[in-house]
Amino acid sequence: MYSQGLIGADGSSEETQEFLDAFQARIDAEEKIEPTDPMPEGYRRTLVRQIGQHAHSEIVGMLPEGNWITRAPSLKRKLALLAKVQDEGGHGLYLYSAAETLGVTREQMTEELLDGSAKYSSIFNYPTLSWADMGAVGWLVDGAAIMNQIPLCRCSYGPYARAMIRVCAEESFHQRQGYEIMLTLCKGTEAQKEMAQDALNRLWWPCLMMFGPHDGDSAHSEQSMKWKIKRFSNDALRDKFISATVRQAEFLGLTVPDPDLKWDDSLNDGKGGYRHGEIDWTEFWRVVKGDGVMNVERIAMRKAAWDDGAWVREAAMAFAEKEKQRTAKVAA
Ligand code: 3HC
Repeated sequence: MYSQGLIGADGSSEETQEFLDAFQARIDAEEKIEPTDPMPEGYRRTLVRQIGQHAHSEIVGMLPEGNWITRAPSLKRKLALLAKVQDEGGHGLYLYSAAETLGVTREQMTEELLDGSAKYSSIFNYPTLSWADMGAVGWLVDGAAIMNQIPLCRCSYGPYARAMIRVCAEESFHQRQGYEIMLTLCKGTEAQKEMAQDALNRLWWPCLMMFGPHDGDSAHSEQSMKWKIKRFSNDALRDKFISATVRQAEFLGLTVPDPDLKWDDSLNDGKGGYRHGEIDWTEFWRVVKGDGVMNVERIAMRKAAWDDGAWVREAAMAFAEKEKQRTAKVAA
């Protein structure tokens, strides 16, 4: 499926200044850009990259929690976790579909994920070691995802923005189910509370990294914000997340593992905000470049799932072909 009318996308149209200015004027007027509208090739490529990475994150993001479905402590917990993991699969599918409106196929994107040339969120290359991690992932990872994704509901590209509305509603349920697991553990025995604190200790910093590099090192932010793909910078969203989450940790009676974290009244034009300790960017880039604890295993599992599902795709295609022939025969 290749969208028609993409200026520059087929190499046959010129991106004149007049064209670029007219496109920017549509963005500035908050018009939604739709698949068949003319768009600069850079805009299309940025969206394919970002939506593709986002879709891969949802799909790989099923693995750390999927790992705990058979070990959930009760039927109720198992049902909620199962539903949550299925939701993430659904999010991946909406997002692959949104990317397909820009002239790439899901097969191409999957190939790039499996051959290591496409990125997915760094957070999913950390292991989930205890049941408390199911609480912390829902609370923190989905909490960070919501913070990042709510502004994407206003993204200038229509199909991405519309997909994000349903995704955000579901992420909100995920965040609550995670927080409720943490609350239960924190009201439980000393050992359960320690388990919750341990999960927070391990996942806090990787969650801050989810928002991407510091604004000064973010290669794409400036242009993406101009095109209203991103509405807030990586650092601004990270700070919002910290402000919301520190209070939730206090309510749980847990300690955020950052000795340098402190409230500063002077931040945000006098509204106040948290100053936090230095993020270990060496670790972030190491994980992004493929050297996290779980990178190899996550991709191996995705590859096995893709290979094991080949017969289902082939059967569906064969059935679709038969249906087509049957319809053609009836019509003849
Ligand atoms: N993990 C891996 N790579 C990351 C990253 C991260 N956390 N943050 C940034 N990067 C990469 C970028 O992809 C980019 O690499 P590239 O040039 O090779 O594509 C590079 O680092 C520079 O970063 P930029 O800030 O310039 O990149 P972006 O402008 O694309 O911003 C982003 C990064 C904020 C993560 C943005 O891509 C974004 O908003 N993505 C959509 C949201 C998303 O993917 N969220 C993950 C959610 S997972 C989820 O919801 C499942 C969960 O609910 C279980």
